[in-house]
Amino acid sequence: MIRTIATTPFDGQKPGTSGLRKKVTVFSQPHYAENFIQSVFDALEGFPGQTLVIGGDGRYYNSEVIQTAIRMAAANGFGRVMVGRGGLLSTPAASHLIRKYRAFGGIILSASHNPGGPDGDFGIKYNAANGGPAPEKLTDAIFARTRSITQYNIIDTPDIDLSRTGETKAGSMTVEVIDPVADYAGLMQSLFDFDAIRDLIRAGFTMKFDAMGAITGPYARRILEEMLGFPVGTVMNGTPLPDFGGHHPDPNLVHAKELVDIVMPPGGPDFGAASDGDGDRNLIIGRGMYVTPSDSLAILAANATLCPGYANGLAGIARSMPTSAAADRVAEKLNIACFETPTGWKFFGNLLDAGKATICGEESFGTGSSHVREKDGLWAVLMWLNILARRRQGVAQIVTAHWREYGRNYYSRHDYEEVDAGAAGELMDALRGSLPALIGRHGITAADDFAYDDPVDGSRSTGQGIRLMFEDGARIVYRLSGTGTSGATLRVYIERYEPDASRHAVDTQEALAPLIALSRSLAQIEQYTGRAAPTVIT
Ligand code: G1P
Ligand code: ZN
Repeated sequence: MIRTIATTPFDGQKPGTSGLRKKVTVFSQPHYAENFIQSVFDALEGFPGQTLVIGGDGRYYNSEVIQTAIRMAAANGFGRVMVGRGGLLSTPAASHLIRKYRAFGGIILSASHNPGGPDGDFGIKYNAANGGPAPEKLTDAIFARTRSITQYNIIDTPDIDLSRTGETKAGSMTVEVIDPVADYAGLMQSLFDFDAIRDLIRAGFTMKFDAMGAITGPYARRILEEMLGFPVGTVMNGTPLPDFGGHHPDPNLVHAKELVDIVMPPGGPDFGAASDGDGDRNLIIGRGMYVTPSDSLAILAANATLCPGYANGLAGIARSMPTSAAADRVAEKLNIACFETPTGWKFFGNLLDAGKATICGEESFGTGSSHVREKDGLWAVLMWLNILARRRQGVAQIVTAHWREYGRNYYSRHDYEEVDAGAAGELMDALRGSLPALIGRHGITAADDFAYDDPVDGSRSTGQGIRLMFEDGARIVYRLSGTGTSGATLRVYIERYEPDASRHAVDTQEALAPLIALSRSLAQIEQYTGRAAPTVIT
């Protein structure tokens, strides 16, 4: 029943910031997904007889690759796979399952917040036994294997029925189809004060959660509506669809406009939130108040002890380098460690495993904690609800009080999407070359290409983004996206610290205007890319 199929390598199967992401049209070439999955297995050791967790965000092509992954896991000697009913698992839920059931690892089928459908994106990511994305050493080994692969193993079997929970067999391997939500919901209940949130709802508190036609629909309906008692209809776009119902499932102010228009005006619900394609990102808004992800991280950390799961305090806070320094001020006040890592969740794993950090976050709508080894959208939403329930203040009140206490880090990210990849590379090279000459001009006191020395395993990651640091604490950061699938995306991150509370009510773009102008001229963005303005501002 095990068949060995001859194959030849494909170019470009290098895992990016978060696994291998390509257009569906690329992934659906014969042998393409198989080559990558076999390369993952070939890079691993010691899994025969062990458990593999498999699930995806339900996007177009998910159901085909799920079957392939199960057949290949069986042919390569796994003893058991645990797969979410319907082939569904959110990324944080998959991370939790790997940890809870001591699986060898997991395969997550997702392209996160990228659009889905036949012309959209697909992705495959391997997570290790700690529940987190494969470390660079492993992704390098996987990539090396994709370049020399000559064959893959697969069993011949009809499609496995994934529509009902229970056990079945694929060859000699056990396939366990599980409720994708139950274990995750139990974990959330153990971390947060559900009774306090129920009291808040009884007192008239209202919210809207936008699942954007993606994976968090079933999770949010179960937890928010069934367990906590928010009225039915609180969750919008709650059915996972292969094309996300046409949504671009990226929870930011541009793509979650439907939610923003409901929550922001007077008379709207007290609280609004959204999550992305695979459920690891979060958007938090209150009436009249959008909470930047950087501020959200700082506020969650500052209020963590109001939540039962964090009542004993935090070991430390970690943030990615481009994320604003708002969290650093909280760490300083709490007298705990603060870590600055390169972009991408995989760098947090070591810090969480070593107990050095408890809460982590990125400016890209990602927040999470030691409860799993991925960022976690619904976790952030529930933590906010727990804090709102205990403080009995609105979102805007909590945010402005936080700024008064710590100062405000005005912050914005400007994305220039789908620019010519060659031009983007030249821009970065030229900027890198000009760094020494920039120091001492425009108030720039330091400039470098960020490198990170992992304090746990000693590994060094270089070329992680160009930083310009100004004398007043302001920063401009430039990096190229590692998750895009066409052309290049230039990300420019702009930040300025304002300690004076009387100046906290200025519009962000206005408060940052001089720095934004400088970010464009210093890097000659228009000359290199032909773009006078970014495509997305968050
Ligand atoms: C983007 C975000 C990054 C996040 C990643 C995966 O990566 O910027 O913070 O970890 O998606 O969700 P990028 O495209 O910038 O490489
Ligand atoms: Zn995601």
